[in-house]
Amino acid sequence: MALLVSMVLEGAGETDPLSIKDYESLGGFAALRAAFALEPQAIIREITGAKLLGRGGAAYPAGKKWEQLLNIEGSPKYIVCNADEGEPGTFKDRRIMEAVPLRLLEGMIIAGLTFNSPRGFIYVRGEYRRLQRRLAEAIQILRDAGYLGERILGSPFSFEITTISGAGAYVCGENSALLNSAEGLAGRPRIKPPHLAEVGLFLKPTLVNNVESFANIPLVLTMGGEKFLQAGHPQSGGSKLVCLSGHVRAPGVYEVPLGGATLRDIIFSPQLGDGIRDGRELGFFHLGGQSGPLGGPADLDVPYAYYPLRERGLAVGSGAVVALDASVSPVEYLQKVAEFFSRESCGKCVPCREGNKILAKYLQKLQIPGAWTPEDERRLSDLMVAMRRASFCGLGQSATTALASAQKLFPGRFAGASAPAASEA
Ligand SMILES: Cc1cc2nc3c(=O)[nH]c(=O)nc-3n(C[C@H](O)[C@H](O)[C@H](O)COP(=O)(O)O)c2cc1C
Ligand code: SF4
Repeated sequence: MALLVSMVLEGAGETDPLSIKDYESLGGFAALRAAFALEPQAIIREITGAKLLGRGGAAYPAGKKWEQLLNIEGSPKYIVCNADEGEPGTFKDRRIMEAVPLRLLEGMIIAGLTFNSPRGFIYVRGEYRRLQRRLAEAIQILRDAGYLGERILGSPFSFEITTISGAGAYVCGENSALLNSAEGLAGRPRIKPPHLAEVGLFLKPTLVNNVESFANIPLVLTMGGEKFLQAGHPQSGGSKLVCLSGHVRAPGVYEVPLGGATLRDIIFSPQLGDGIRDGRELGFFHLGGQSGPLGGPADLDVPYAYYPLRERGLAVGSGAVVALDASVSPVEYLQKVAEFFSRESCGKCVPCREGNKILAKYLQKLQIPGAWTPEDERRLSDLMVAMRRASFCGLGQSATTALASAQKLFPGRFAGASAPAASEA
């Protein structure tokens, strides 16, 4: 199996991102045309068969999510694309929106058709101003060509897509906070249940998927679920966009077949990261964003796919891989992570709002020679359990995942405290 593939990013950098002709020359809109002849159940069957896992971080099976929404009564149903991409070290949705925006839009239109939805929304990270304009332009081009708007391709189906700008809060990537923000409310998470499939945007049944998830939908339909599955790992089909950064020689976005590359390939292969800069050694890497776990040199041969990584206590998450050289102190690094969560906590619940501040202080104290006591050890352990179990949303629940993994990875450096790692948020 090749280390790099061109599926979601096919045409990126080689075609005009806003040219319908270029996109069609690569088979663009064939999936949408085929979808008109399919029953919604048949579309969802392909997605389920493809074992497409959500690419936003939580790895929820897309087929299951679509099935749940299909079975919910009530209309209208809304389609929402999560393009908040606030996770540090994550920049793959930007690449899709920049280079192949029509593939994302085609995926959303297919979702609209499946649920007979009148409206789709793309909630775009506030800092991506230029991309918001590009998406608006792409939407207008599709409208002019009959792929969006009234009676799409002469059918009875009408669908509109609008972009909404985020305002720079990390928590607004959490799907219920995102919907609140999209409605003009404070961007804080909602209590669940009811789930967003039942009570979502404007209290209507709603599908929320990530940019990369939607961009995979046309591929699933053109390839067929089975072939899509074969292009990846037996438990999770297709490819994954990896955002490689940190001390590697060649940072960037790389598309790898799920299960077809190891972490060693990603960080060290000359086709991808090309190893650590300045002849230094790899110290550790952080997977899937700030809420993901750390791994070390002993984990390098794990295949990059959802289940093999999970079995090892690691995670794909958003696709971020931040590789750091051996000069970086994991304790200092994790203090920055805790400070990040402390800044980005929305303040709604105590375990996260106060917990992250206290966590950052503990990590600071760990760096002061002779300051750490057995009492600190016990309290840190209790704090981590409380944050994981009692925080209201995924932000607080997974804020200690990196620390918990680092305690196992560097037992001496964290004075041995332990708390179970949260699953992928
Ligand atoms: C604090 C927090 C931030 C998140 N940020 C993002 C984000 O920027 N983009 C994203 O797609 N999902 C993000 N998620 C995950 C979403 O809540 C949700 O799982 C995802 O949009 C679902 O789409 P998918 O199933 O296609 O992955 C975040 C979750 C949490 C808890
Ligand atoms: S866990 Fe953090 S971000 Fe989530 S609701 Fe509580 S305070 Fe807000």
